[in-house]
Amino acid sequence: MRLVPVAELGIDVRWYLWTLLLEREPHTVISHKITTFEEHLAFFKSQPYRLWFVIEDDAQNWVGQLSVTKRNEIGIQIAKVHRRRGYARAALELLLHAHKPLDAVPGEVPGNYIANIAPSNEASIALFHGFDAKLIQYTFEIPRGTHA
Ligand SMILES: CC(C)(COP(=O)(O)OP(=O)(O)OC[C@H]1O[C@@H](n2cnc3c(N)ncnc32)[C@H](O)[C@@H]1OP(=O)(O)O)[C@@H](O)C(=O)NCCC(=O)NCCS
Repeated sequence: MRLVPVAELGIDVRWYLWTLLLEREPHTVISHKITTFEEHLAFFKSQPYRLWFVIEDDAQNWVGQLSVTKRNEIGIQIAKVHRRRGYARAALELLLHAHKPLDAVPGEVPGNYIANIAPSNEASIALFHGFDAKLIQYTFEIPRGTHA
């Protein structure tokens, strides 16, 4: 298995990453919104991440993606058909060995990698617990208009 930088792949990768987005289950994402391919392309072209990889298996099939923002936020998704085969754990191990988090900038960048995970996303919570990740924050949202 290896991490292939998205920038080294042809234009097909844009379509692949969009199909992954469409696969997201509502219980696994914090703010769920249908993204059109045009919106996805604009996002892609904005170079949104510090690191962005397609996760490739040993037969060079694409099995998912891994991103890291400039704020040390990790995002990972494995396509449904490839889950529970150890790809997410292996991809995170590769990331942690090859790329240090950016240094802390007070109020802007935490000095460690973090992952923002919906409370109902049990698979991801278990995955990060496996890396000795600590819960550092509860984020609450107040629905708009409820106190107007
Ligand atoms: C979370 C996700 C990335 C896991 O990918 P995966 O390749 O299936 O995970 P792995 O096979 O490497 O599993 C590693 C560990 O994660 C945990 N895990 C993975 N899937 C799980 C599930 N469905 N239920 C409970 N624990 C799970 C387990 O602890 C597992 O270790 P184990 O197999 O020894 O029990 C995948 O389910 C996914 O893409 N979900 C949607 C996207 C998402 O939620 N991303 C996280 C936001 S950052």
